[in-house]
Amino acid sequence: MPRTTIVAGNWKMNLDRARARELAAAVAARRGEAAGVELVLCPPAVYLETVGATLAGAKSDVGLGAQNMLDKPSGAFTGEVAPPMLVDVGCRYVILGHSERRTLFGETDAAVNAKAKAALAAGLVPIVCVGETLAEREAGKTAAVVTTQVQDSLAGLSPTDLEKVVVAYEPVWAIGTGKVATPEQAQEVHALIRGLLAHLASPAVAAQVRIQYGGSVKPDNAASLAAQPDIDGALVGGASLKADDFLGIAKAFA
Ligand code: 13P
Repeated sequence: MPRTTIVAGNWKMNLDRARARELAAAVAARRGEAAGVELVLCPPAVYLETVGATLAGAKSDVGLGAQNMLDKPSGAFTGEVAPPMLVDVGCRYVILGHSERRTLFGETDAAVNAKAKAALAAGLVPIVCVGETLAEREAGKTAAVVTTQVQDSLAGLSPTDLEKVVVAYEPVWAIGTGKVATPEQAQEVHALIRGLLAHLASPAVAAQVRIQYGGSVKPDNAASLAAQPDIDGALVGGASLKADDFLGIAKAFA
């Protein structure tokens, strides 16, 4: 079966409630422009319910995703959000191990691994992010860094679970910088990741896993990324805050 492409908008810590509702409504209304592409919106946690209600009200199949969670079902974890709570407000996806979580909040591969297992146990699709920094790329360490992140973040997952995971390759130097990876640079790492997945499970499982590219994806560079054989979608930051741009990118993956 060919892989269904998946384009997700990571709104990060942006917008307010009214604008979140407005953006979700616009994406839902124009969803048909990217028919066949799985679309996901990941608003800030406090707006999940509002965005979920907007999507449900529009009878839209656009999915709802969180940007983070803790790996515990409940308890004394002030300020955190549990996987069942995300499910409760209608989430089907959760972004895990985004480079901003890794660098600003100290998330390790082990923590991402625990979160991925907890997400799957709760019935959520984890979007697991990996990617090298500029210094690592310039030192020729891209393959080594991404290999460790993929192997350690996805360690111990059953083949059935691994097949559900979405991996997002987001080179840190391309995030929010306007410096997109070339399609060839991205494809090289995506192929590496698929090879690692084949080792972790099997070639058949690896062939099913969607691997998104993220980092300065815009409507005008999306098509050349989408043309690569192992790029199955995009994880979009800045450009996901405008319905026109988000749908323009999604269209490229249709
Ligand atoms: P930009 O698209 O703003 O570069 O952000 C990418 C990203 O971090 C998505 O998770």
